[in-house]
Amino acid sequence: MLNRWENSIVLAPMSKGSNLPFRRLCCEFGATVTVSEMIFASSLAQGKRKDQALLRRSPLEKCFGVQLLTNRPEELSACLPIIEASGADFVDLNCGCPVTEMTERGMGAQLLDRLTRLEKLLEVLEKEAHIPFTVKLRAGYKAGHVNIQTTARMAQEHGACAIAVHGRTREQRYTGTADWNVVKQAVESVNIPVIGNGDILTWYEAQDRLNLSGATGLMIGRGALIKPWIFQELREKTDLDLTPQERIAIYLRLTNYMLEHFGDDAHGQRTVSSFLFWHFDLFNRYRYLPYDQYYEASLQHPLIQTRLNNIYDGPPLEVALAGYGKSFRQDMANLFVKCAAEKHPQVWLENELLPLAQKLMENYRRQAEEKAAEKALKEAQKQAQPSSSGLPFNEPIADSLPNS
Ligand SMILES: Cc1cc2nc3c(=O)[nH]c(=O)nc-3n(C[C@H](O)[C@H](O)[C@H](O)COP(=O)(O)O)c2cc1C
Repeated sequence: MLNRWENSIVLAPMSKGSNLPFRRLCCEFGATVTVSEMIFASSLAQGKRKDQALLRRSPLEKCFGVQLLTNRPEELSACLPIIEASGADFVDLNCGCPVTEMTERGMGAQLLDRLTRLEKLLEVLEKEAHIPFTVKLRAGYKAGHVNIQTTARMAQEHGACAIAVHGRTREQRYTGTADWNVVKQAVESVNIPVIGNGDILTWYEAQDRLNLSGATGLMIGRGALIKPWIFQELREKTDLDLTPQERIAIYLRLTNYMLEHFGDDAHGQRTVSSFLFWHFDLFNRYRYLPYDQYYEASLQHPLIQTRLNNIYDGPPLEVALAGYGKSFRQDMANLFVKCAAEKHPQVWLENELLPLAQKLMENYRRQAEEKAAEKALKEAQKQAQPSSSGLPFNEPIADSLPNS
């Protein structure tokens, strides 16, 4: 299995994000390993259909893993045959989910603080799994409790074929920056492949973190949600400068894959529209970040954690794709579904998206004017207000004194 991980570019498991249509798109751009959305072992073991559906894979997924969330050895035991029968290449144990609802129930990142329980789960995987297994770890539970070396070794001793390491603690969730020295510590502690994860948005950040940590491969989460073509950039070590039209074509492709997967009847279309609505809030964070302009900045702070300028002006489609505002995103999502379902992308692009983009720009302009007017009014009111000395605010004191 080592050659699967050597120089691998893994699409991270992401609830909602890494559904089958999105994974298919990422594989087309060069993701070499994919992982399902997180599945609750309790409901998979009960045979719930919703969870069974998450086991499906696209033919393009050449190395596909199923991620389980549990803290109960018996649930894990019950799920293994189901996952194996589904044809997955590996099973992944989630030890990174920071969501309070899960950690309060002793699952996800809480396992980093409950090593006896983690060990019991690893024992089940060691004894009962007939396919390889991986473990997805964070640095530790909280600052001062970074125990990546211990957890990485535990995973190795129980036979994990690889580990993924996100260089943040549970306490950090997604704040601060991912610490790739933690990935390095894991690499130095074990002989199995270590997949480094956290804050990769450009090929040069990927190179930098790989060099620093010595990781076997990379796992990409939000970077893929922002630009699914990141896998091609990482493979080719290049910045792709895609036009808005090219990006729209990619989003349309995704829309079509979603309609194929979720169904193109009214119910399917509503599901796809709600997914796209969510996706546009990530797609709109895309900015072209060429190496020569951004490399230095990326060394100071990961670009994915850096707030980049909003785009209010410029080519309408560019502004539209960077657009914010819930109602605009919903309009965009509905339009994409309508267009993909009608299969007239070019006509739609010219007749519907452009006017929508122009309307958005008009809104921005109006908002900016309103803001400027509001600011001017406040300024005028301030000037008209008597100061604490009883004198007009900006008037030279001597000039306003009577008989001076
Ligand atoms: C929307 C979203 C959903 C996520 N869901 C999961 C999940 O189900 N299982 C998991 O192990 N990690 C999950 N993660 C964490 C990612 O797998 C990854 O570790 C994290 O985002 C850091 O990588 P990045 O900086 O490349 O995004 C999720 C992240 C995001 C943004």
